[in-house]
Amino acid sequence: MTGTIDISVKKIAKSRVTEFDVNNVPFGKCFSDHMFIAEYSDGKWQKAYIVPYGDVPLSYAMSALHYGQAIFEGMKAYKNDKNEVSLFRPTENFMRLNKSAIRMAMPEVPEEIFMGGLMELLKLDSQWVPSSDTGSLYIRPFIIATDEAIGVKASETYKFIIITCPAGKYYSEPIKVLVETNFFRAVHGGVGFVKAAGNYGRSLYPTKLAQQKGYQQVIWTDSETHQYVEESGTMNLMFVIGDTLLTPALSDTILSGITRDSVLTLARDWGMKVEERKISIREVLTAHHNGTLMEAFGCGTAATIAQIIGIGFEGKDYDLPPVEERKFSTKVDDVLRSIRKGKTEDKFNWMMKIN
Ligand SMILES: Cc1ncc(COP(=O)(O)O)c(C=O)c1O
Repeated sequence: MTGTIDISVKKIAKSRVTEFDVNNVPFGKCFSDHMFIAEYSDGKWQKAYIVPYGDVPLSYAMSALHYGQAIFEGMKAYKNDKNEVSLFRPTENFMRLNKSAIRMAMPEVPEEIFMGGLMELLKLDSQWVPSSDTGSLYIRPFIIATDEAIGVKASETYKFIIITCPAGKYYSEPIKVLVETNFFRAVHGGVGFVKAAGNYGRSLYPTKLAQQKGYQQVIWTDSETHQYVEESGTMNLMFVIGDTLLTPALSDTILSGITRDSVLTLARDWGMKVEERKISIREVLTAHHNGTLMEAFGCGTAATIAQIIGIGFEGKDYDLPPVEERKFSTKVDDVLRSIRKGKTEDKFNWMMKIN
């Protein structure tokens, strides 16, 4: 942290936490007692405060709603056996939020506001952090443009807000994915490498079509040739082919996932061969045909590791090896969980304690 900020706090009269079993709530639907808000106007961040979670009055003319100046992050806090709460690599989320802000012509958030707000909020709502093995507190920091004005231009006012919600496992079952060769998620020169709200809105229709065909998610391909795989839904994509871990190289069409980086770091630490490069769907299917495609999975904060057990491509379904046989992804999933729950040495200093 580079400094401290004054945060005024208005506490909830009576916590709602006893109304829920925080270890067993549906993802993203039940929000913790408080939220953090910082306001930007006249060229600077002005006041910062914590108030009870709830609706806030905003204009229907608000520019975020019309022109999509809205960005967000997704991160998690975990509770260990001693009831201590820690965040997983929060500085990475802070830096990525500001990368998104720059691309969307929005003001960057100073570190003391991001980290200071987050720490205060989590101290206040620590009871909302699940203690179960697979549970965590999902944290959603976001910035929205709040000018009350119609007209396409960068807003002059913004709100940076953090809300949180208890979360269990995101995909409880392995998933079947459809390789999407008609629609695309991101284009060179676009905003695929940042977490702009519009990236997610545009993905819903192709995902809905895939779901109607019996798949849970799509695999996005490159917008120019539709031959190279990029991401799966809102996750980075990984394959184990032979003894090599393969993932698409980062570019301006791929989000630089923090889970992706963590998985690659662990794999390299374990001496595994890792390749970050272009991967064509043909290469994946040839490996499947030759029996060398050992594992396929998506990785991201919400799901951690989502096992892919089936891939649909050009009207054909390809079944992948059963999850029990997947040595790498099950180990990486376990080790990440153990690090987050304070049960394994945090060799890379990924956890930041709330105190
Ligand atoms: C498009 C997209 N790709 C990948 C990821 C995974 O990123 P992370 O591991 O930082 O959650 C996310 C989630 O944030 C995402 O929205």
